[in-house]
Amino acid sequence: MYEYETLKACHKMLVEMFHVYPGEVIVITCDTASNMNVVESTAKAASLLGCKPLVVKMPTPRGSGRAADPDLAIDALVALIKNADLWIEYNHEWLYYSTVFSRIFVDETDPAKRPQHTCLVDADEGMMIRNVGKVDFPVLREFLYKVADVTRAAKHCRVTSPAGTDIEWDNADPNTIEGHLAVCAGEVGPGESLCLPGQIGWSPDFETLNGVLVIEGVLTPPIGLLKNNVKLTVEKGYIVKIEGEGSDAKRFEQWLASFHSKSMYLVAHLCYAFGPYSQLTGSICEDERVWGATEWGFGNVGGQPKHQAPSHSDGLCLNSSMWLDGKQILDQGVVVGPTQEIVELAHKLGH
Ligand SMILES: [Fe+2]
Repeated sequence: MYEYETLKACHKMLVEMFHVYPGEVIVITCDTASNMNVVESTAKAASLLGCKPLVVKMPTPRGSGRAADPDLAIDALVALIKNADLWIEYNHEWLYYSTVFSRIFVDETDPAKRPQHTCLVDADEGMMIRNVGKVDFPVLREFLYKVADVTRAAKHCRVTSPAGTDIEWDNADPNTIEGHLAVCAGEVGPGESLCLPGQIGWSPDFETLNGVLVIEGVLTPPIGLLKNNVKLTVEKGYIVKIEGEGSDAKRFEQWLASFHSKSMYLVAHLCYAFGPYSQLTGSICEDERVWGATEWGFGNVGGQPKHQAPSHSDGLCLNSSMWLDGKQILDQGVVVGPTQEIVELAHKLGH
């Protein structure tokens, strides 16, 4: 299905995101639950570009991250991937945060000695076409970098949503690890690990985060697409109450409790979601980019050793409104400021 468009999107990803050169070794990992049209299209595109693609297909592991370890040929994968220039993961049960990943990306601190990496869980034809093939990368990058600039400059933020979200916080110093903004603009440098473009993520100053988050659409793990909204009351950065109709809220509450760790209740980060064509599909890589949503993470805080937790979950507040020091940037998912330039770039991206 969509063979030509998929091949074109994969070719564009290699050229515009990874800037591959002829002769580079590209390892593509996948499992028996992966979409093989996407895997094959990436290998074909790599070949067309003069690279050396290697497709490694494995039985689908029993879980993702470290839970995949017992089923992985760890030493063999590490040896192969370490010697590649680029590693593209299409595994359904992802190797990101597994021992394979940490032996390559955490143990090796010199980026020059690591491959580039991306983890595209459950990528199918539609996801590649909507999130890579159709995207105007230069305009999206300009938009995201300008939004990141105005966000870094802001001290106090507030987010609301039609479903009932109303939460505010102070930003930490953006020049510190605690306040660092990660901009997913589709540019992956040497030794870097990044996902699809269309997101800017950061952690709030946890102590100052108070209010209500109403999670809609998706909450992964443990649920995926939601039947009912999940209302979270947040005090000083931590979830203190979980409410909602149906079974979803109860399931999330039980899942958090199963770790017996207060760290799982921390609101770890938020992100702007700005994928111009991203849709809510139940595939978290794409869901996290549905335009105008804010995406909220719970539990482990990436890159902050002080805030490690046993797991991590992500959920959405659709059609968010957001204010930076009182100046509105989003109004129910529509970019309305804070500068005319940012509004015009959003228009150029179809919003
Ligand atoms: Fe997250």
